[in-house]
Amino acid sequence: MAENINLTVPQESSPNASAENKGKKYLRWDLAKRIEHWIFMLSFTALGLTGLVQKYAEAPLSISIVAGLGGIENTRTIHHWAATIMMLVTIYHLGAVAYRMYVRRVRLTMLPTMEDIRAAIQSMGYNLGLLKHSAQQGRYTFEEKLEYWAVVWGTIVMAVTGYMMWNPIATARFLPGEFIPAAKAAHGGEALLAVLSIALWHLYHVIVKHFNRSMFTGYLSEEEMLHEHPLELADIKAGIANRPIDPEAYKRRMRIFVPSYSVIAVALLVGVYFFVNYEETAITTVPPAEQVVVFAPLTPTPLPSPVPTRTSPPGGLASWQGGIGDLLNQRCGICHNSTGKLGGLDLTSYQAALETGSSGPAVIPGDPDNSPLIVKQAQGGHPEQLSEELLDQLRDWIANGAPES
Ligand code: HEC
Repeated sequence: MAENINLTVPQESSPNASAENKGKKYLRWDLAKRIEHWIFMLSFTALGLTGLVQKYAEAPLSISIVAGLGGIENTRTIHHWAATIMMLVTIYHLGAVAYRMYVRRVRLTMLPTMEDIRAAIQSMGYNLGLLKHSAQQGRYTFEEKLEYWAVVWGTIVMAVTGYMMWNPIATARFLPGEFIPAAKAAHGGEALLAVLSIALWHLYHVIVKHFNRSMFTGYLSEEEMLHEHPLELADIKAGIANRPIDPEAYKRRMRIFVPSYSVIAVALLVGVYFFVNYEETAITTVPPAEQVVVFAPLTPTPLPSPVPTRTSPPGGLASWQGGIGDLLNQRCGICHNSTGKLGGLDLTSYQAALETGSSGPAVIPGDPDNSPLIVKQAQGGHPEQLSEELLDQLRDWIANGAPES
């Protein structure tokens, strides 16, 4: 029946494809499958990105990506959302496969067979230049089957180990605690494997080797079918690719399928709900970043009345050198110095005290009531507060013209 296909020359352009078949297209992915692939692809990409930056947290690239995503909490939240979406797609996929297998009784074209091993060997021989022809394959090539089953395997590993990390306390009830770091190692290792296999194996086959647009358009051309799925093409031409379904049998099976899958899907959705909400994990137990006061005011050991002895020299009047300078240096200098200069203010030298301060010179000789130094301290609530007594001494000193010595 495969009348005009020369199955022995699938690698050449198809000289035998008749003109009527030239523009012919073959539906490879219906819309539902394309949407499923898109959602899976996006959640996979989000998971890979937000996961690998956590696995390689110290790499400069990871640091900038995490910062770009708004910090580690955001990164983890995105990771968890993407994981949840992937679980939902997986539940959908189980239903879609069950529907195709049980209700439509399609041929199980994704199952690995001995033919695939033969095809793999032949294709390797062809790639090494030892054989003239590569393998002729059906609906799913061995490359695609490998990819698909790797995803199945990977999803199981990631879900199980992800669950263990997401719910460490629940896990520790059933398993020794060492399993949790082990799960983390497996999760990260499998993630790397999955990302590399998509980047090297899958993207090579669908983009580099030959740009296969069927995930966007849904269709393959006659030529592409001939090159990549000649056996399926032959089946299609022979009219045996899809089994006809008896409408009666279809209805009967749907009556069983719909309620059974509904129950299973609800059970799985409840499972996902618990997976996600069962208990507090690091993301909720570690308090998220918050705004805090940048400096914790020092509570210096009270000096044994350093000032009075020296600010009241026998002559009577205090001066910068007679104690004021020491007082301000000790109590204020940690924040108000020539390098730190908080509030634009440097109180470590006489000159600076009379000149600096973002609201004008802190000390205005002769005018204590307008000197920011006094105003600020009198307001109260400053990280370092002078006692009323010391403040009075400063007032007197300024009122006196703030003498240096
Ligand atoms: C722990 C750090 C810290 C210490 C110690 C400290 N300050 Fe300040 N100070 C600040 C900061 C921050 C500002 C700027 C924000 C503001 O104006 O409150 C400031 C601002 C000021 C200003 C206003 C400057 C301007 O021109 O706006 C004055 C005056 C001042 N401090 C006086 C003092 C005095 C006097 C002391 C010592 C008794 C002192 N500060 C100790 C942190 C400190």
